[in-house]
Amino acid sequence: MTVEIDPAGIWDSEAIADVAAATFPLACPPGATQDDIAAFIDDVLSAERFSEYLTDPNRTVLKVTHGGAIVGYAMLVDGEPADADVSRAVTLRPTTEISKLYVLPGNHGTGVASALMDAIVERAEAAGCAGLWLGVNQENVRAQRFYAKHGFTKVGTKTFLVGTQLHHDFVMQRAL
Ligand SMILES: CC(C)(COP(=O)(O)OP(=O)(O)OC[C@H]1O[C@@H](n2cnc3c(N)ncnc32)[C@H](O)[C@@H]1OP(=O)(O)O)[C@@H](O)C(=O)NCCC(=O)NCCS
Repeated sequence: MTVEIDPAGIWDSEAIADVAAATFPLACPPGATQDDIAAFIDDVLSAERFSEYLTDPNRTVLKVTHGGAIVGYAMLVDGEPADADVSRAVTLRPTTEISKLYVLPGNHGTGVASALMDAIVERAEAAGCAGLWLGVNQENVRAQRFYAKHGFTKVGTKTFLVGTQLHHDFVMQRAL
């Protein structure tokens, strides 16, 4: 499957928000309520929020395009982790967070996500990062397996608020 991976621009805000709304529920544990998921999508994954992310100099949004349509995206956040638990667990500096990595379900298991991860690694290496880190829900075994295939190991835990519910994540890191 041939895809293109490029930095997104502010003009992509609506299309990426649509992909974000379609894919975020897939990363949530079965116990997450529809109301909490909807609140998170409204607060954090709206087109308005993506237009802010896309103009933040510390963030990079990469989009994956197939046949003219966006089928996945990732958001990278450079700099010191804000969360104290993460800051302790993540040992490599400078580090970049993979804050979001989502592919539409019809494209899972096709190599699209791996191509996106390769592009992330290439960008982080070019920027002089020593490591990448991410948080992944403790019940999201598929994503954990994907990250392990790409050299990430579990280095700690953190919590993540979705609506009113606190979710439990593993923190994973990989050296570059
Ligand atoms: C996470 C994601 C990007 C990975 O992309 P993908 O195309 O599914 O990844 P791959 O198929 O290359 O790798 C997944 C691995 O998990 C395995 N797997 C699939 N379902 C699984 C399950 N229920 N339990 C354990 N492993 C599973 C696959 O067999 C594969 O391993 P293999 O290559 O050794 O066979 C994609 O699944 C996705 O967008 N998911 C929804 C959003 C999400 O969870 N994002 C991550 C948030 S942290």
